[in-house]
Amino acid sequence: MTDSSSDTPNTTQAGGQAMWGGRFSDKPAELMQAINVSIGFDKRLAAQDLAGSRAHAAMLQKVGVITSEDAAAILKGLDAIGREIEDGRFPFREEFEDIHMNVEARLRELIGPAAGRLHTARSRNDQVALDFRIWVRDAAERTHGLIQALQKALVAKAEPHAATLMPGFTHLQPAQPVTFGHHLMAYVEMFGRDAGRFADARTRMNESPLGAAALAGSPFPIDRHATATALGFDRPTANSLDSVADRDFALECLAAGSVCAIHLSRLAEEIVIWMTPQFGFVRLTDAFTTGSSIMPQKKNPDAAELIRAKAGRLLGSFTQLAVVMKGLPLTYSKDMQEDKVPTFEAFDALELSLRAMAGMVADLEPVPDRMAAAAGAGYATATDLADWLVRELGLAFRDAHHITGAAVKRAEALGCDLPGLPLAELQALEPRISAGVYDVLTPQASVASRTSYGGTAPDQVRAQIKRWKETLP
Ligand code: ARG
Repeated sequence: MTDSSSDTPNTTQAGGQAMWGGRFSDKPAELMQAINVSIGFDKRLAAQDLAGSRAHAAMLQKVGVITSEDAAAILKGLDAIGREIEDGRFPFREEFEDIHMNVEARLRELIGPAAGRLHTARSRNDQVALDFRIWVRDAAERTHGLIQALQKALVAKAEPHAATLMPGFTHLQPAQPVTFGHHLMAYVEMFGRDAGRFADARTRMNESPLGAAALAGSPFPIDRHATATALGFDRPTANSLDSVADRDFALECLAAGSVCAIHLSRLAEEIVIWMTPQFGFVRLTDAFTTGSSIMPQKKNPDAAELIRAKAGRLLGSFTQLAVVMKGLPLTYSKDMQEDKVPTFEAFDALELSLRAMAGMVADLEPVPDRMAAAAGAGYATATDLADWLVRELGLAFRDAHHITGAAVKRAEALGCDLPGLPLAELQALEPRISAGVYDVLTPQASVASRTSYGGTAPDQVRAQIKRWKETLP
C-alpha cells in the first residue's frame, strides 16, 4: 500500500511509503506481524547496524554511487540516531519490524528522501549478517578477556597454596594426595583452552559479509575491501551466497561457550562439595553465599549452583541454533532471525558466570587442616608403598600392588592408617621391607615425590604457575 493516508503498520515507512509497498496492496495480518517482529530483541544490534551503515554510506560516496551531499546528510542523520539510542530516546517501533528498518525509517524522518539512498547495493540479508557477526565477534573478544580474568584469579589463589595438601580423587574416592594449588591450576589449563577456542573462532569469523547484498553480489561498483577495513575485518567474505547463509561463526562460539560453561560447572560443583560441612575444605564469605529463610545455620553456595545450572543455557542455545540451521537450503531464510535470542542469552549467561566465578575464586578460603587430614585418609599413599616396593626391592609392580593391597586390608582390620601400621605387620607380608618405607607413606612425602613434568610436587606446581603468569596479560 503506497497511499500515505493508509495505515500499513509493519511495512510503512515514515512519510507513508511502504518499504515494499510497490508489490503489496494489503496490510499484513496481526498474527503475521506478531510472528515476524524482531525489534524486541534485535535492538541489541543497534550500534552494529549504525557502524555498518556508516561504512556503507562512506563507501558508496567514495565510489560515486551517491553524492557527497547525500552521504553527508546520511552520516549526520546516523550520528543523531546514535545519540538518540545512547540517551534512550530512540523510538523503537514494532511497526518497522526489525532494527534495520527502524533505523532507516528514523533516518527518513530526520533527513528526508536522501535516507532512501543508503540501501543502494545492500540488502537486509547482508546487513543482518554483518551486524550479527560484529556483535558475536565483540562478544567473543569480551568473553576471551573474562576467561583470562578468571584464570588470573585462579593463579593468584593457587600461588600461596602450591604446597597445601588436599586429597586427589578418582570416582570421588580418595586416590592420591595432591596440592590445592595443583588442583586449581588444572582449571587454569581448561580455561586456557577455552580462551584459545574463542581466539580461534574470532580469527576465523573476522571477514565482512557486507556487499554480498541479497545473495548474488551487487552490480554497483562497490568496494567491499574498503568497508571490511573500515569495520575492523581482515577481509571481505569470498562467496556472496555463503556470506548471507553462514551462521557458523555463532555456532562455533556457542560450542566454545558450551565447553567453557561445562568447565565452569565442574568447578562450581567442586565448590559446592568442598563447602559442605562433611568436606569442609573451603569457606566462602557472606559476599558469595546466601542464608536460608527458615534454617538459621545455613550458608548456601548459590552462586556456584547457578553457574552449574547456567551450563544448561549454553548447551540449550547451541542446540537451538544448530537445529535452526541444520535443514536450511542456501541462502537466507527467515528462520535465521531466530539466531539472535539464543546467542544473546548464551553470552549473557556465560559472561555473568565467568564474572561470578572469578569473584567466588577470589573469595574462596581453603581450610588447610581439613584438607591435609583428608589427604592422608583413605590409604591415599598406598600407591607410594607399592612404588617403594618396586624401587627398593625390585618387585614387579603387579606383585607390589598385591602386597600393598594386603597391607591396606591389615591396616583396616587394625583400625590404623598406612603410616601407623607396625613394621612387623609389613614384614609379615614381605620380610625385606625396612623402616625406610615410612618416609614415603605421609601425604607430604607422596606429593613431594611427584616431580614428573606437570606433577603435583610443589616445585612443579610453582613452575606451572610461573608459566601462566608469563602467558596471561
Ligand atoms: N530481521 C531479519 C533477521 O534477523 C533481517 C533480515 C531480513 N531479510 C529478509 N529477507 N527478510 O534475519
